[in-house]
Amino acid sequence: MTETPRTPGPSRRSRVAPFEVMDVLDRVAVLRAAGRDVVSLCAGEPSGGAPTLVSEAAARIHASGRALTYTSALGIHELRAEIAAHYSRWYAVDVDPARVAVTTGSSGGFVLAFLAAFDPGDRVALARPGYPAYRNILTALGCEVVEIDCGAGTRFQPTPDLLDAASADGPLAGLIVASPANPTGTMVDRAELTALAQWCRTNGVRLVSDEIYHGVTYPEQSPARAADPRGVCAWEVDDTAIVISSFSKYWGMTGWRLGWMLLPDDLVRPVDALAGNVALCPPAPAQYAAVSAFAQESYHECDGAVAEFARTRKLLLDNGSRLGWGESAPPDGAFYYWADLGPQLERWGSSGDYARALLEEAAVAITPGGDFDDRSGGHSVRLSFAAGSTAVAEAIERIEAFNRG
Ligand SMILES: Cc1ncc(COP(=O)(O)O)c(C=O)c1O
Repeated sequence: MTETPRTPGPSRRSRVAPFEVMDVLDRVAVLRAAGRDVVSLCAGEPSGGAPTLVSEAAARIHASGRALTYTSALGIHELRAEIAAHYSRWYAVDVDPARVAVTTGSSGGFVLAFLAAFDPGDRVALARPGYPAYRNILTALGCEVVEIDCGAGTRFQPTPDLLDAASADGPLAGLIVASPANPTGTMVDRAELTALAQWCRTNGVRLVSDEIYHGVTYPEQSPARAADPRGVCAWEVDDTAIVISSFSKYWGMTGWRLGWMLLPDDLVRPVDALAGNVALCPPAPAQYAAVSAFAQESYHECDGAVAEFARTRKLLLDNGSRLGWGESAPPDGAFYYWADLGPQLERWGSSGDYARALLEEAAVAITPGGDFDDRSGGHSVRLSFAAGSTAVAEAIERIEAFNRG
């Protein structure tokens, strides 16, 4: 008797929700290939690319023919030192380069941080709506994700009261805070971050602070944020937090796959050991080139890109009512506009159906909210204004006409 062959199949932990935005992006590519003029406002990617000095440094590195071998697991010393120095420029924080870990994008940082800080079964809190990768990585690592419903009332950010309520079912091991946040763009100010850090200290909870949108901020347009124009770094408040950041957004280097972490003393060695096993090192050419990201000229260029985001943000907020959607919170930072669909919801039933029809009929790509909020994201959409004011102005015209028709 022959035995029926059995294949093992994927693990239970790999069952994470796919991103709806990836389907939208695939469809954008198909429509563009067929000649449609699509305005794509779904991806969180600055279109301008890396600062000139970084691109030039990369070209020199490749032209030199030098062997691009593995680097130290935590990154090249020169880059770690530049990252540490950046903290004294933007914040009042003195960072020891030995506590900087360069990572494969902030995404690579999350995996290392969560592995180093949490055990399977640990309860880790985060805001809903929020960036879906936190939830999905934690779930795949066997942690229990405690989603905190954060509405417009707390500007979509957690508060000590909400954390007290979230710990009623069991103690928390971690809290992830993103400021500016994706998808809402809202920020916590110094007092709010201090209160959250104190709550974490009192309750023995590890704070993970996602600061990848720092610098992509609009202090002139959000006066309440003017005191800390780049954002507040969690280490200004408590250096037992894990700070996670990236070259992807302010520096426009998404595809270079480079980010970093500031690590509490006790996590440096574990992260070093994990990083050496998981990826050996972050991409070497990107590391050498990224040293130039901290030149004055590079900051100047990036601030120029942020000024264009600010103009686009203003255009969007000034014309927000023309979109025919519902409530939204003006973003303090990042380049996202998160809105309830309001009257469009009655007509379309869900943000997924609305976004699909908008793409097919009006050739405007936005992101349905389900990626960021699996409970009520079907009512909301995220529009990324990273593509700039010309694209957004065109999208507003098309959306207005689409809603009428
Ligand atoms: C809040 C937030 N954190 C982290 C990331 C990951 O960025 P990267 O891995 O390119 O640094 C993103 C990407 O959009 C994001 O929105």
